[in-house]
This record gives sequence, structure tokens and C-alpha cells, in this order.
Amino acid sequence: MRFSGSTRVAFAAAGVALALVASGCGADDGDGSSGTGSKQVEVFTWWADGGEKAGLDGLVTQFKTDCSQYEFVNGAVAGGAGSNAKQVLASRLQQSDPPDTFQAHAGAELTDYIKAGQIEDISAQYKEWGLDSAFPKGLVESLTVNGKIYSVPANIHRANVLWANKKVLTDAGITAAPKDLAEFFTQLDTLKAKGVAAPLALGKDWTQQMLFEAVLISDLGADKFNGLWNGKTDWAGADVTKGIEDYKKLLSYSNKDRDTFDWTDAEKLVMDGKAAYQLMGDWEAADLDAKGFKDYSYSVFPGNGNAYQWLADSFVLPKGAKNPEGTKCWLKTLGSAAGQKAFNTKKGSIPARTDSVASDYPAYQQSAIKDWANGVAVPSCPHGSACSQGWQGAVASAQGKFSSDGNVAALQTALVAAAKQYAGK
Ligand code: GAL
Repeated sequence: MRFSGSTRVAFAAAGVALALVASGCGADDGDGSSGTGSKQVEVFTWWADGGEKAGLDGLVTQFKTDCSQYEFVNGAVAGGAGSNAKQVLASRLQQSDPPDTFQAHAGAELTDYIKAGQIEDISAQYKEWGLDSAFPKGLVESLTVNGKIYSVPANIHRANVLWANKKVLTDAGITAAPKDLAEFFTQLDTLKAKGVAAPLALGKDWTQQMLFEAVLISDLGADKFNGLWNGKTDWAGADVTKGIEDYKKLLSYSNKDRDTFDWTDAEKLVMDGKAAYQLMGDWEAADLDAKGFKDYSYSVFPGNGNAYQWLADSFVLPKGAKNPEGTKCWLKTLGSAAGQKAFNTKKGSIPARTDSVASDYPAYQQSAIKDWANGVAVPSCPHGSACSQGWQGAVASAQGKFSSDGNVAALQTALVAAAKQYAGK
């Protein structure tokens, strides 16, 4: 894996040494009484349903074993990619009413919370629990500011995956995944000619951002794509214009009601055979499995080569949490080998720890573990590894406009302005 987010640190990931570290939060974690005597640990996520809930449930089972002195309280707020949860969280943090822990993406999104002084440094716990060497170095750097580490990563997800309904493809005579954008357009035309009116299922704002980024990775290549986020690539460039034009063409193969759809609504179009393809992160593997839909295939987005568009869910200790000892037990569990296995086997993601055993995982994750080890890492803006929440909001609103007006120049101007306003801040 060549990890080239903001830091370009090389590391070996997804090793398979069987070095299971003692994982329990045992009796020596105290009796559960914090300053306020709370036994409850409120865990705030947006994993309310399907494969996401299945992953959370797996982790909770481990928490109940390791942290039996505490009670898990589910603070999930439904809505893909935190579309509702992040607003609820922001207002709670504003009112000094934090949950005991919350989900935050590694990278720029986490940095937002650090800069706002809303979360605690947990470097001491990293040492105490032996986490210093458990995760890839590049990933830990995305959780670190000024030498202090602020969260424990639960996983690594891949964003740039193309999911397909196998029967819809076979019925249209399509036998192989498209290798590049040109082949993708040809297949989409074939599907349309066979009566699949909107062969590419798509949802609202953040899902459109994902599709656009996948196109940019194809048109710019991994290194130039990375440069968009660290100031080395010009958003005003001709290759970005080409990306917007290709993206616009892709929109013409998608469902017209996309702006009202969450990712699971778009996924349902694929499951129901009304669409052939959907670009989505690999939480879709877990969700399709949880929903019992078996007739699917997956491939990297056409033209993305070995680019692994990564994001990582991590959990934090908020300042002013009611039960910090309980939070620490949650963090210790999710950072442990057993916790990562309990979570990731159900979540579609791969473990962030490098000592996990690939054969413990379903087929999709086994292939992802290999790709991660051999790929080039690129970050994601809608999932926080590439950009701050402010930058993401600006891009989302520009893309929302574009979804209805299709104005290429206006979108590019807005993207240039967003980068100028937010890059490096
Ligand atoms: C991402 C998150 C994933 C998954 C996805 C869809 O932001 O990192 O774990 O939940 O949203 O909701």
C-alpha cells in the first residue's frame, strides 16, 4: 500500500500474523463509576439499519463481554454518511451535551473536532493498550495533531467500488466488469438499448460526490487526484473539466429522482433489477448480505486501477463525556483484535489492525485486504479523509445545483472557490 493522503507515508498493511493481543477491558478498568457515577456509555453513530447496524451489533456483543460493568446505550441517528447525525452531533457539542463517544472519520474531518477543542488526546491509552504499533503508520498520522493521537480507528472502508446485479448484466450480454470509462459508457448504452432505462443507480448529494470523485480518479490518476486536496493539483485544470463532463454524461444514465434518494434507495434499484450498477463504498457488501441479496458482483470503479479510495471510522473521547472510563472501555474493545473482527466481518470493511487474519473474513473483505496491501491510497471528501466538513458542504451544495442545471463551468468555478476557501485550513 502506498499511502498518499496528506502525508505520503509508506506502510505495509493487512499483514496476517496471528498476534492476537489481549483485548479485554477487565476488572482493572475500574468499577465503572466516573465523576458522575454513570454506568452507561452512549455511543453515537449513524449505523441504524441493515449491514451498518449488523456491524455495530457485532461490536456491542464484544463490548458486553469485555466491559460487562457498563451498559451500551445506542445513540444512532439514521441517514447515510451521517447526513442527519452530524447536524445533531454539532448542536449537542455546541450545547456541551456530548455523547460518551461518537463516530468521526479519520483525516480532515477528525481534525475539525480537534481544532474546535471538542475531543481529548488519548495518546496515553494508545501506549497502555499497545495500540502504537497495531495500526498502519499512515493511518495513525491521520488521527494525530501535534504529536497527540485523538481517536481509535475501527476499520478501513473502500469508497470506489462498483456494485452490480449479475442477472441484469447477463440478460444484456455483459460478461465482464468495465475496465475504463469508455467501456463503461458502452455497457450503459447496451443496457439502455435492452430496456434498462436508468442503468446506473444514484442517490443524493454525498453519493453524487462519491461518483464524481471516482470519475476524477479515472481522469486524473491517483497522484493528481491526491493533489486536489493538498494544493498540488489545480481545480481549474482541463483534466478536471474533462472529469466534470464525463460525470455529467454518467448522470444521464442515472435515475432522475436521485436527489431524493439515500444510498440504500439506490441500492434497492440494483437489488430489484431496475438498475445494473451502483458506485458505493463497501458497506454495501455488508448491507446486501444483511438483506439476503446474493446475486451481486463487485469491481473497482472503471479506470481507477489500483487506487484504493480509503476512509476510516474512528471513535473519540469527547471533552465533557459523562462516563470517560466507560468510553475508554469502548475504545479499548474496538481497537482490540477481537473487537475489530466482531465489527468488520459484519460491516463490509477491513480491519484497521495489521495483525488480523484474512481467512476470518467473508469473500469480499478477503479481496479488499489484498487490494489494500497492493494499492495506492487516495482519500475521500464526503467521508472525511480528504477534506474538512466545511469543504465537503461547499462541494455538496455545488454538486446539488449541478444535478439539476448540468452547468459544467459553474460547477468548476464553485469547486475552485471551495478549494481556495478551505484548503489547508
Ligand atoms: C460512511 C461511513 C461508513 C458507512 C457510510 C454509509 O461515512 O464511514 O461506515 O456508514 O457512511 O452510511
